[in-house]
Amino acid sequence: MNQNLNRQVQRHYDRLQTKHARIQDQRQEKIYQEIPLIRDLDQEINKKGFSGVYQSLGGKSAQKIQGELDHLKQMKKDLLVQEGYPEDYLDKTYDCSLCKDTGYLENGEKCDCLKQFLAQDLYEMSNMDRMLKRENFETFNWSVFSKTIDPDEGISPYENMELIRRKVEKFLKDFPEDNGDNLLFYGGTGLGKTFLSNCIAKVLLDENYTVIYQTSFTLIDLLERKKFKREEAAGLNLAYELLFSSDLLIIDDLGTELTNQFTNAELFNIINTRMLSGKKILISTNLGLHELKSLYSDRVFSRIFQNFIPLHFFGRDLRYTNI
Ligand SMILES: Nc1ncnc2c1ncn2[C@@H]1O[C@H](COP(=O)(O)OP(=O)(O)OP(=O)(O)O)[C@@H](O)[C@H]1O
Ligand SMILES: [Mg+2]
Ligand SMILES: [Zn+2]
Repeated sequence: MNQNLNRQVQRHYDRLQTKHARIQDQRQEKIYQEIPLIRDLDQEINKKGFSGVYQSLGGKSAQKIQGELDHLKQMKKDLLVQEGYPEDYLDKTYDCSLCKDTGYLENGEKCDCLKQFLAQDLYEMSNMDRMLKRENFETFNWSVFSKTIDPDEGISPYENMELIRRKVEKFLKDFPEDNGDNLLFYGGTGLGKTFLSNCIAKVLLDENYTVIYQTSFTLIDLLERKKFKREEAAGLNLAYELLFSSDLLIIDDLGTELTNQFTNAELFNIINTRMLSGKKILISTNLGLHELKSLYSDRVFSRIFQNFIPLHFFGRDLRYTNI
């Protein structure tokens, strides 16, 4: 993690801890006024706690003191309940009880809340935040899709979008099912592929999944910087790691990047690793299936083809249609 990001993370969790410390103080003050006996109990508990520490160094059995402490704590709980409060009313509260607002689990791994925070951060850096406010299922406008039947396809773009939406809804409903399929959006320019990707991203982010959005251009750029610019590499570790570990990786505009041996291999590595660990991928591309096949190695292509549901977008470029 780079310095700047590290500081942001620190500040985020500091703020949470301060917030909860304040909540705890306020509750305590209120309870001390309403139930003064609890203040006395707390004092007694503190005293015993200290003597417990000394005693455990020798002398009176620590076990006995622990018993007394438990008894006092139980009295406190009973009093709270008696006065209509939950028994844990004076206990510490957390935004995330899994990591107690530290960002890390006891085994040292990053907590989901930290991953989420970091992913959100990457989003803001890539302007996704603003995009998702504009493009989501609530702003999805069915009337942009023509109801005129496309002679080559046999159905209208509108009907086609209905079929696509059904697949997408299933994808979301089953998410993140291990053996479920990934999605491949393909078709001409301006047909709503990126829009629909954003809709999906928004739903999953709102459910606290980690979603990483990259155009294939920014993705390749990231991979190359990571490989060739050593001084930057450390700062890119997180972004790189999330390409593998985020719940959903969106690769938009696949095929617009310049491919070479190295990027091909890396791309395959990412796709393959994600598939093995059951992490979902959404790819969209302007290329047809044949073009994809000729652009990428057979290995990459057969991967994409086997484990993805290909969804064909067709119709007129929505950017130039006035409705
Ligand atoms: N369902 C929708 N409701 C409202 N507007 C839409 C919808 N789908 C697409 N649009 C608008 O149509 C335009 C083109 O859509 P989008 O960018 O998603 O196309 P695309 O298929 O990703 O194109 P490209 O292949 O060039 O990236 C955008 O301005 C987008 O906001
Ligand atoms: Mg697009
Ligand atoms: Zn947490």
